[in-house]
Amino acid sequence: MFPLNRPRRLRSSPQMRRMVSETVLTANDLIYPLFAVPGDGIAQEVKSMPGVFQLSVDKIVAEAKEVYDLGIPAIILFGIPETKDADATGAWHDHGIVQKAATAVKEAVPELVVIADTCLCEYTNHGHCGYLEVGDLTGRVLNDPTLLLLKKTAVSQAKAGADIIAPSGMMDGFVKFIREALDEAGFQDTPILSYAAKYASAYYGPFRDAADSTPQFGDRRTYQMDPGNSREALKEVELDILEGADMVMVKPALSYMDIIWQIKEMTNLPVAAYNVSGEYSMIKAAALNGWIDEKRVTLETLTSFKRAGADLILTYHAKDAVRWLLEG
Ligand code: PBG
Ligand code: ZN
Repeated sequence: MFPLNRPRRLRSSPQMRRMVSETVLTANDLIYPLFAVPGDGIAQEVKSMPGVFQLSVDKIVAEAKEVYDLGIPAIILFGIPETKDADATGAWHDHGIVQKAATAVKEAVPELVVIADTCLCEYTNHGHCGYLEVGDLTGRVLNDPTLLLLKKTAVSQAKAGADIIAPSGMMDGFVKFIREALDEAGFQDTPILSYAAKYASAYYGPFRDAADSTPQFGDRRTYQMDPGNSREALKEVELDILEGADMVMVKPALSYMDIIWQIKEMTNLPVAAYNVSGEYSMIKAAALNGWIDEKRVTLETLTSFKRAGADLILTYHAKDAVRWLLEG
């Protein structure tokens, strides 16, 4: 009569709660993004992302050591090149900024996994993720010519020491193209983490400050996905798996938990979630105003990604989160 079932029995003490806890966040789940800039001794804080810096290669190396010492297994590198052009030369040049950073990090901290983001928007003079038709002012990136640049970029990143290639440009066929190029170049064992379901999201705003990659005109809606679609995400993932992806990503994370869950259900590949810049900045802004408890909100958010099905979480909170986890 009176409730036979009293779920509160299993919440009665910290020990009891620990016994029945289903999701435990650890450092192993996290990947820390870093932004490499030319120069020496540079650490320039990104205005819209307190606690995130554009770093010169020497500072990236120092940061990589810290990340490794915290027990975080991997970083993902983005680059801001000296100069930008229509061919995104800075992306695929053997002495490009990400190539330099990858080599330096692998030399200093060989055990740390270095992931290279493979896209062109930081390197093109118009800020789109590939080639445009001459005179195009809408940002309708030309798919197949762009694949040629992505191939070159991926191979040069692998040559520079990148352990994982992460194509993020949402070009059709990019996984197959990059897989073939890596194999031909002798990198059969280098995995591809595909940004498989990447939405055309306003949550990328602060990142575009950090990476200096805001499109000069138009938007990315002809290549990134419509936020209202979910079956399309499954289609994208399905195709990337057929093309040889080793891991698949959903991006952003917070507004797309249902997508993370559905993808986890459909594949046995590891699923990554990108807790993007706008998601980070919202927590930071509220915390700096004293409106929320940053530690608790951050750990709750990251744990929720894992509960939703994420095996890996790319997050700017990674270092803080590990410190907080160690505090208990
Ligand atoms: C570029 C790229 C973007 C992010 C990672 N790689 C954004 C974009 O489309 O402009 C976003 C990351 C973030 O917001 O934290 N292809
Ligand atoms: Zn891009």
